[in-house]
Amino acid sequence: DKGNHRHFMAKEIYEQPETISHTLSHYVDMGAEKVALRETLPFDFADLTRLTISACGTAYFAGAVAKYWFERHARLPVDIDVASEFRYREPPLEKGGLSLFISQSGETADTLAALRYCAGQGQHVASLVNTQESTIARESDVVFPILCGPEIGVASTKALTAQLTALAGLSIAAGRARGVLSAERENELVRALTALPAAVAKALAAESQIIDIAKRLSKAKDVLYLGRGPMFPIAMEGALKLKEISYIHAEGYAAGELKHGPIALVDEDMPVIVVAPSDELVDKTLSNMQEVAARGGKIILITDAEGAETAGHGISDVIIVPRVDSFVAPILACIPVQLLAYHTAVFMGTDVDQPRNLAKSVTVE
Ligand code: F6R
Repeated sequence: DKGNHRHFMAKEIYEQPETISHTLSHYVDMGAEKVALRETLPFDFADLTRLTISACGTAYFAGAVAKYWFERHARLPVDIDVASEFRYREPPLEKGGLSLFISQSGETADTLAALRYCAGQGQHVASLVNTQESTIARESDVVFPILCGPEIGVASTKALTAQLTALAGLSIAAGRARGVLSAERENELVRALTALPAAVAKALAAESQIIDIAKRLSKAKDVLYLGRGPMFPIAMEGALKLKEISYIHAEGYAAGELKHGPIALVDEDMPVIVVAPSDELVDKTLSNMQEVAARGGKIILITDAEGAETAGHGISDVIIVPRVDSFVAPILACIPVQLLAYHTAVFMGTDVDQPRNLAKSVTVE
């Protein structure tokens, strides 16, 4: 049932304040402002020297954001690769290490093959899945649930923000176990997570402005997305979402890589979407953005009110999201990139819920 929405994808985008709250209530004790994992861990975060993450598509981008969190908040080195590369790379893995697989469906063939490889190497196998009765869940030593409810739209939306919410919780649990996070810092991070659903609801309210931008975006042939730090995977996710449902060519780039090649593409016909809410890196990203503006590039900046002020003039469009703690900013930034892709596809008249050539569950390699 799509409710009042035209597509399942729209319904699922709009459900996110509730789905994020739901996932949060599984991982977090809001009263105590602490992460409280209900799963029995067959390993101790304190003993790990490395975390290996493997997934495909949007689930991979969730892992790519989580890498920043585990490394920063738990000082736990993370290796991450798309499952289709990981499985054939056959990387050496230390016995007793932890491998984590992220999958909405729990049936993705490459992710499952990567899991079986890790199990064969004596790794502890953990998975983050939405479908509890799936093959990946069955073959894992510990299953962390995504809990976003069934996702019908082929393009993943609410599964991503719920995966990120769960991963944020896991990174805090790891940080505590490894003695990296003080109780106060844990409280702070949990409060940032608790404030997220209301911020997501506010970000969803920017829809009418996004529709206006999407109308122009639907005329583009190529779109570049830029982000730095944890916003880099969000830039890649934005590009993936746009190409899969609107069929417009898009690429996500690390903002600092711009001058190493893609800046050659910049002209007034190629929109450049910059994902840059204010954080300790925002000035760097905004200066990359100015390089685009100086070459006549049309910029769509996704930021908060403070970021917009720092950005100054010369920006064609600014999408303002609420200011949140930089820890949870990548989760919030998913909302405008989803809405942009969705409305662009609606203008293009594509089959948003069933894009051509794509399947919801990719059970072949
Ligand atoms: C993108 C999308 C795909 C999936 C990928 C992994 O919108 O839906 O990229 O994220 O096929 O699927 P799961 O999470 O089921 O393993």
